[in-house]
Amino acid sequence: MNEPLLEIRDLRVGFQTDHGLLVAVDDVDLTLERGKMLGLVGESGCGKSVTARAIMRLLEQPSGQVLGGEVRLEGRDLLPLPLEAMRKVRGKEIAMIFQEPMTALNPVHRVGRQIVENLLLHEDLTPAAALKRAVELMEWVGIPAPDQRIHDYPHQLSGGMRQRVMIAMALSCNPKILIADEPTTALDVTVQAQILDLIKRLQNETGMAVILITHDLAVVAETCDELAVMYAGRLVERGPVESIFQSPLHPYTKGLMDCLPKLDHPPKTMLPIIPGMVPSLRDMPRGCRFAARCPNAHDDSVLSERQPWRECSGGHGVEACACFASTL
Ligand SMILES: Nc1ncnc2c1ncn2[C@@H]1O[C@H](COP(=O)(O)OP(=O)(O)OP(=O)(O)O)[C@@H](O)[C@H]1O
Ligand SMILES: [Mg+2]
Repeated sequence: MNEPLLEIRDLRVGFQTDHGLLVAVDDVDLTLERGKMLGLVGESGCGKSVTARAIMRLLEQPSGQVLGGEVRLEGRDLLPLPLEAMRKVRGKEIAMIFQEPMTALNPVHRVGRQIVENLLLHEDLTPAAALKRAVELMEWVGIPAPDQRIHDYPHQLSGGMRQRVMIAMALSCNPKILIADEPTTALDVTVQAQILDLIKRLQNETGMAVILITHDLAVVAETCDELAVMYAGRLVERGPVESIFQSPLHPYTKGLMDCLPKLDHPPKTMLPIIPGMVPSLRDMPRGCRFAARCPNAHDDSVLSERQPWRECSGGHGVEACACFASTL
């Protein structure tokens, strides 16, 4: 079986709004190999969560719609599946965790019951066996005294513990893929590191593949195998993490990397930022979407035509805008 675990081709996603159809994800291609961790980065509004929700077929309804493309899980396109079949994929084959666990946990039910219900939905277990498994899962994700915590309501747990419950629920049926959409941004720094370590440990133990959506390139450098950089709804660069960190090609990727704190920065120096803003969905240039903020932009012609994709060596590829492609 040489096919990738998950292959996304030409994914286009739009929203019907008062301003007409706005395209939030435009021709995105991504590949996730078995057992690997793919980091998906980009500034706020670049289309990371919409991409993840499109994979899960959980776009906001009725406004959100997939306009085209394929999402192949082990060769099977998920987009045309009947809803009933898709429900079986969700949770069982692909699970997702969100930035704020309170949005996914039911505040009026004890956490144990929520894990048990998830298990009963997808696995052939008796209620007693599901309860036993829920305690084991809570222990597995590092929740102390799980046989007592299982009776707690979500608000009785700390943010870090709630995120562990979410992870236990997500992993309860051994999914092949975990999509983690900014799983740590609501947590303080020490707990963030613990949750990322936990995801990495569970990934090693289960062999699942992970898509980690984050703003934080430093996290990607530490945890991921592959990196995909999105800008304004499009993929601008992707490849193995070492290759992109050693030689980022797109000016946007370089800009993001320049914003990382460096050991040789003198104390109290301001970190650089990328000046300007991501263009609005209502006002997207037809060509290079980064041109208005790009230090290399030298003429407006790149704004009018879509810039070609170039494959470099070792799976490293980039949207090769005319402003810098000659230097590649
Ligand atoms: N329900 C919706 N209706 C209209 N537009 C939407 C809807 N959901 C998302 N969008 C738009 O789609 C674009 C991509 O949003 P998305 O949530 O994927 O960004 P993101 O990269 O996940 O950002 P963040 O880092 O802030 O989470 C944004 O311009 C957003 O305003
Ligand atoms: Mg998001």
